[in-house]
Amino acid sequence: MGTLIQNGTVVNAGGQQKADVLLEGEHIAQVAANIPPVDHTIIDATDLLVMPGGIDVHTHLDMPFGGTVSADDYRTGTIAAAVGGTTTVIDFALQSRGHTMREAQQTWLAKADGKACIDYSLHMAITDLGPEGGAQGLHEMEEMVLDGISSFKLFMAYPNVLMIDDGLMYKVMQKAASLNALCCIHAENGSAIDIVVAQMLAEGKTAPHFHALSRSIKAEAEATHRAIALADMVNASVYIVHLSNAEALRELRSAQKRGIRALAETCPQYLVLSIEDQMPGQSWEEAKYVFTPPLREKKNQEALWQALEDGSLAIVSTDHCPFRFKDQKSLGRNDFTKIPNGGPGIENRLQILWHHGVNTGRLSREQFVELCCAAPARVFGMPQKGSIAIGKDADVLLWDPIAQYTISAATQLMATDYSMFEGWNVRGNARHVLSRGALVVKNGLWIGQIGQGKFVKRVANAGGLA
Ligand code: URP
Ligand code: ZN
Ligand code: ZN
Repeated sequence: MGTLIQNGTVVNAGGQQKADVLLEGEHIAQVAANIPPVDHTIIDATDLLVMPGGIDVHTHLDMPFGGTVSADDYRTGTIAAAVGGTTTVIDFALQSRGHTMREAQQTWLAKADGKACIDYSLHMAITDLGPEGGAQGLHEMEEMVLDGISSFKLFMAYPNVLMIDDGLMYKVMQKAASLNALCCIHAENGSAIDIVVAQMLAEGKTAPHFHALSRSIKAEAEATHRAIALADMVNASVYIVHLSNAEALRELRSAQKRGIRALAETCPQYLVLSIEDQMPGQSWEEAKYVFTPPLREKKNQEALWQALEDGSLAIVSTDHCPFRFKDQKSLGRNDFTKIPNGGPGIENRLQILWHHGVNTGRLSREQFVELCCAAPARVFGMPQKGSIAIGKDADVLLWDPIAQYTISAATQLMATDYSMFEGWNVRGNARHVLSRGALVVKNGLWIGQIGQGKFVKRVANAGGLA
C-alpha cells in the first residue's frame, strides 16, 4: 500500500502535466494519469500543484557566529523549512582554525542527529589546511568528498574569523578541481571593507545603516572577479553564494560568456528588500536587516530578477542565519560591527519567490521549480532529489497557488522574534509536504517526526558542469 496523490498538476523544471503520483515507501513509484486507487492512502491534490520539495542549499543552523549562536537549531530550522515547502537543506559546517575538518564534520552531524526533521547535507567551510603546506587539510578534502561532502566553502570576508587568503583559496580550488568538488565562495573583499569599517567607527558612524554602507558593491564585484579568476586558473567549478548586486552579476556573466565554470545564487532578501526601504538610516530597528552582503540600492533588484529569468543566476537559496532582535542583534546596539550578521528566511523562500516571481509573470512555474528544486539538486550532486519522477525520493510539495497568507513573526515557526517580511501578504503557499514518503506537513501544519531527516551523501560532479 502506497500514498496516491490524485488530481494534481505535476510541475517539474522541464514541464507540467495533469497526473497522479504514487509513492511507495520512500520513493516515487509512478507518475501517470488515473492511477487506480486500490488500497492506497489518498491525498487529494485537486487545484494543487505537485512539485519536488524545495532544496535550500544555504543555511546556518545552530551556528556560532558574531559572539552568539544562530537562533534556529536543526529542529526548529528544519520544521520551519518544511512548513515553507522545503524538504532538504545544505548547511555549513565551519572548520575552526587549528582544528580539523573531521572535527567540524562531527560537530555538525551531532547538531543534526535526532533533531533534523527533513533531509540535510553539509558543505565544509575551510579556514585552515594545517601545517606542512596543507598536506593534512588537502587529504581531509578527499575524505570529506568520500563522506558525501562534495562542496567546500571559502570566505573572502570576515578577517580574523573566517577569511582565507588568495593562496589558500588557490590551493583549495586546485584540490577541489581534482576531486570534482564545487567551491562555494562568499565573495567580498574583507580587507578593504575592514578599513572602511574602521574609518566609519572613528567618525562615530555606529548605527546599523553603516553596516550596509561599509560594504560596497565594488567590494563584492572585485571579490567575485578574483574568485572566478582563481577558479579558472585551476579549472575548478565555482559557485558564488548570496550574490546581491548588478556589478557582481556583470562579473559572473562575463565569466560565463567566456565558458568559465561559474555559477551563483541569490536570495529573496536581495530580490525584494532594499537599502532605501529597509535601511534608510533612521532607527535601531534596521539591525533586523544587518546581514552580509548587505541590502543594496533598489535598482539592483531588476538586474537580479533578469538574471533569474535568463539563467545567469542558477539558484535561489535563503542564507538563513537567524538572530533574535531583542537579545542577539542587541549585542551591537552601540556598534554595528557587533550586530550578529544574518537574517531569518528558511520558511519564506518559496512564498516570496512565487508571489514576486511567478504571480508577476517574471518566472514560469517551471523556472520556479528549476531555481528552488531542480538546479539545487543538480548543482550540489543529489540526483535522487529535485524532480517528480519514478525512482526519485518521495519529497513532494503540494502547493496551493492561490492560497492567501500573511507573513508574520507571530505565526512563523522560525525561532526569531521578527520577520524580514512582517505583514507582507503573499498568494501561493505550501499545503501539504512529504519527506521521503512521510506526510510531514498537513494543511500547513507540521505533523512529522522530530529527527526523521537523514544525512544526504552528495556526489562530486563539479556543480553539474563537467
Ligand atoms: O550575514 C550573513 N550572511 N550571515 C551568515 C554568514 C554568511 O556570510 O553567509
Ligand atoms: Zn556569506
Ligand atoms: Zn551564509
